[in-house]
Amino acid sequence: MVLDIFVAAGVLIMLFLLNDFIRSFPAMIAVGPIPSSKKGIDMALELAQIKKGEVFYDLGSGGGKVLIEAVKKYDCRGVGYELVYPMMLLAKLRAKLAGVGKKIEFRRKNLFSSDLENADVIYCFLTPQLMEKIGEYIKHKKLKNGTRIISYAFSMKNYDAEKKIDHTKHSWNIYLYKIQSSKIKNQNDNAKP
Ligand SMILES: C[S@@+](CC[C@H](N)C(=O)[O-])C[C@H]1O[C@@H](n2cnc3c(N)ncnc32)[C@H](O)[C@@H]1O
Repeated sequence: MVLDIFVAAGVLIMLFLLNDFIRSFPAMIAVGPIPSSKKGIDMALELAQIKKGEVFYDLGSGGGKVLIEAVKKYDCRGVGYELVYPMMLLAKLRAKLAGVGKKIEFRRKNLFSSDLENADVIYCFLTPQLMEKIGEYIKHKKLKNGTRIISYAFSMKNYDAEKKIDHTKHSWNIYLYKIQSSKIKNQNDNAKP
């Protein structure tokens, strides 16, 4: 009887993980689970100029390395959005082991459902297509004036980067955008209906 309960629970967990894996497969294929490199993370975090207590978002937080490093190094708080459940669990485990579990909230959610109003820094390592969509998405969001967006590898179409640094090892750039709410508002006002 007890064994039956364990087997049933095991099967349910497997089905849940399989279902989750299948549903998040398109995102995984499109973006891939490749993490930012250690050197790249250091460069990106320096570029973001994070201050103690600020809130750092990683949209597509994967295994959580960027958030963990940001919180450890700059004593900020972190929020991660990740579609793939096992990656989110891995990130949670890593954060706990690194002693910063209480300072990072990992949400198993689509990044396009993120509320960004508390974000001081938003980090992304996605695809050119997703970066373009993020550019559109943030036009409809309430952001703090001066929110910094760091995009690893890909630029954000229709936005002027404040700074761009060469991450030569991978011949990828890292981009810094500073979001002025008034500018976004003007873009919205000018948008065609
Ligand atoms: C290239 S990895 C980057 C991981 C981490 N940010 C880093 O730099 O090490 C991109 C991550 O975004 C996740 N992802 C892709 N589309 C997503 C979406 N719409 N919502 C949430 N996560 C998404 C993928 O599952 C993957 O883990």
